[in-house]
Amino acid sequence: MFEAGQKRRKFAVGNWKMNGSIATNKALLEKLAAGVKDFHDADCVVCVPYPYLCQAQQLLQGSNIAWGAQNICSTKNGALTGAVAPHMLVDYGCRHVLIGHSERRSQFHETDDTAAARFLAAQEAGITPIFCMGESADERDSDWTEYIVGRQLDSLIRRFGPYVLKNAILAYEPLWAVGSDQPATPEQAQEVHAFIRKRIARCDAEVAARVPILYGGSVTAANALGLFSMPDIDGGLIGRASLKAEEFIAITRAANQAAARN
Ligand code: PGA
Repeated sequence: MFEAGQKRRKFAVGNWKMNGSIATNKALLEKLAAGVKDFHDADCVVCVPYPYLCQAQQLLQGSNIAWGAQNICSTKNGALTGAVAPHMLVDYGCRHVLIGHSERRSQFHETDDTAAARFLAAQEAGITPIFCMGESADERDSDWTEYIVGRQLDSLIRRFGPYVLKNAILAYEPLWAVGSDQPATPEQAQEVHAFIRKRIARCDAEVAARVPILYGGSVTAANALGLFSMPDIDGGLIGRASLKAEEFIAITRAANQAAARN
């Protein structure tokens, strides 16, 4: 039972996207493991490309950094060339997987339906899905943010009910902020995070109070603390800045500070 007034943990989740090499990963992961070892109030996670899961497992075992993947197939096994099944991620110690990232939706034709199926497959394998939602610049300009984010959220709740969010992390990632140098302001992000939490609360107040909601889109060491200090922002999903050790350590420190304070 989530007690009234109980704190949610904060997260710094790195999304490496299609970046890295054996040599650069080693240097990055070793620096990160040393740099975040004293942060106990925040969870640090790296989501790496599939070929590097084994390396992440070897280098991060025993550290306080968890690792995960950037996608998953919703099917358990079979004739699906190029796909990676949930149990394969479990074999490599993955505790998290990104689901429905905007780059998967826009460039690989993933839909609300396929994202929902992947979400459930991850959970059934014991992996925590990090479910991404967000509107484009045009949609925001047309005042459709709540409609788009609400639809993406409902794609889970309508199918599976609100309790499916008990073992999940949500990420609000406005498309106009991802990969740009235009982060949402803490107030802009907070407004959408509060909307997401209220919409879940209509179904179940305890699930709404407990589910972590991360912000993603041009998070840096300079803006992390401001964002993570907002009441409904429980940390970040970080792309480019997660590839630089000092920067990602500083962002994790900000998550840790914000968690210790709230
Ligand atoms: P960015 O990417 O931090 O480079 O904007 C965030 C993401 O896509 O998860």
